[in-house]
Parts: sequence; structure tokens; C-alpha cells
Amino acid sequence: MQIFNEEIKNALEKNLYEHFAEFIEEQTLPFKELMAYYRCAMLEVSTKFNVLNEEFSLQYDRNPIEAIKTRLKTPESIMNKLHRRDIEPTVENIEKNIYDIAGIRVVCGFPSDIFMLADALAGQDDITVIEKKDYINTPKPNGYRSLHLIVETPIFLHDKKKLMKVEVQFRTISMDWWASLEHKIRYKKNVTITDEINSELLLCAEIGAGLDKRMEEIHDKVVKMTETGNGKDIV
Ligand code: GTP
Ligand code: MG
Repeated sequence: MQIFNEEIKNALEKNLYEHFAEFIEEQTLPFKELMAYYRCAMLEVSTKFNVLNEEFSLQYDRNPIEAIKTRLKTPESIMNKLHRRDIEPTVENIEKNIYDIAGIRVVCGFPSDIFMLADALAGQDDITVIEKKDYINTPKPNGYRSLHLIVETPIFLHDKKKLMKVEVQFRTISMDWWASLEHKIRYKKNVTITDEINSELLLCAEIGAGLDKRMEEIHDKVVKMTETGNGKDIV
């Protein structure tokens, strides 16, 4: 059974790589150009977050963003996604069907920072929100928490304006470490994840969410104290 599965897997991979090789040969330049547009779009959106962070730290003495990570989907991963969805690999199809080629992860201190930043981004007049998935108010059954937006942002080329899609994932530090470690654990080669492991992972996610809530409550308390000038020395 194991060998049979391996054979199918190898055949699929071979087929995929043949498609991939053909695609690269025919469309290298347009593909590179498209990837460059996505890189620019990623820069535009991450600059918007840097501006917001700067503004909040100056005006409100508060840094809502702990880290901004960007990543461009690899050609292999793009090809895999097209293949999975049975879409012919062309540059047009990539742009039309794959929304997470440019990805930005914004790691925040507190859950409320996430919604504040998402609203601030969505409110900018050159940004259009195409899709929103709120896995914070409605976590995935495995415990995954994050706010996902697909936004469209303009990039300005020498002779035209182009609208590009960017996926933004907002997480707190605790949501981020859980997701990173869960991914590492879940995708270990040749291992079956048992119900027990799934329950443990879910429990860890819930503990993380509980800590986020408590830290936010402590933070709110301290902010109130500083606002009223009460207990400054204790803080
Ligand atoms: P694709 O966009 O096709 O991947 O599927 P989708 O739209 O159903 O996925 P979704 O937008 O819900 O999530 C996409 C991304 O979120 C993934 O590429 C991961 O980065 C992250 N993600 C979603 N679910 C999980 C999860 O259970 N664990 C971890 N670690 N990351 C997740
Ligand atoms: Mg998606």
C-alpha cells in the first residue's frame, strides 16, 4: 500500500514538474514581471503598516506592531496550487486565481491592535478589501487564530497603475508562535498526527488565547492608571 502511494506521488510530481518546466521555458519573462509587481505591492502595504506604527508610537506612545514579515510565494508552491485546483499554468491564471502570492504577516502585541490596524488599513482610500477571514472571533477547529485579509493595492508603474492582491495575516505574538510550531509539528514527514496530539495542540492554542486576553486586561488597567495619573510610581 505504501509503495502504491509512493508510485502515485512520484507520477504526480513528475507530471507537475514537466508542466512546470514547460511553463518556465515559455513564460519566464512575463512570470518574472508579475512577481516583481507582487514584490512592489508587498512593499506598498508594508510601508502603510510602518507609517501606522510610527504614527501610533508618536501620538499615543504605543507600538501596535511587534514585527512585519513578508514573503513571496515560491514558483513551486504556485505551481502546486494551480495543479491542486486543476488550473492551467499561465501567467494570467496565476494572477486571476491565486490571491496569496504576496503575503504580509503583521505580528501585534495585543488582539485589539489587530482589529485597530485592520480597520485603519481597510479605511485607506486606495485599499479595497476583497476577502476577510476572522479566525480570531471564530478560530479554526484545530485552534488556529489569525485575521486574514486579501486586499487590493495599486502600484504605480511608469505608464500605468496596476491593482495587485496581497494577503495580510494579523496575529498576536502568541498566535504566531502557536501557528509556527503547529506547522512544524503537523508537517513532520512520515508521521500520523493522532487525536491526542490534535487535542494537545488545541489546548495550547486555547492557553495562548487565554494569556492574550489576560495580558490585554493588564495593559488596559495600566493605561487607565497612567491616564488618571494614579499609581504612576507603581507602574
Ligand atoms: P489557501 O489560500 O488556498 O491556502 O486556502 P484557504 O484560503 O482555505 O486558507 P486560509 O486563507 O484559511 O489560510 C491560508 C494560510 O493561513 C496558510 O497558508 C497558513 O499560512 C495559514 N493557516 C491557515 N490555517 C492554518 C493552520 O491550521 N495552522 C497554521 N499553522 N497555519 C494556518
Ligand atoms: Mg487563502
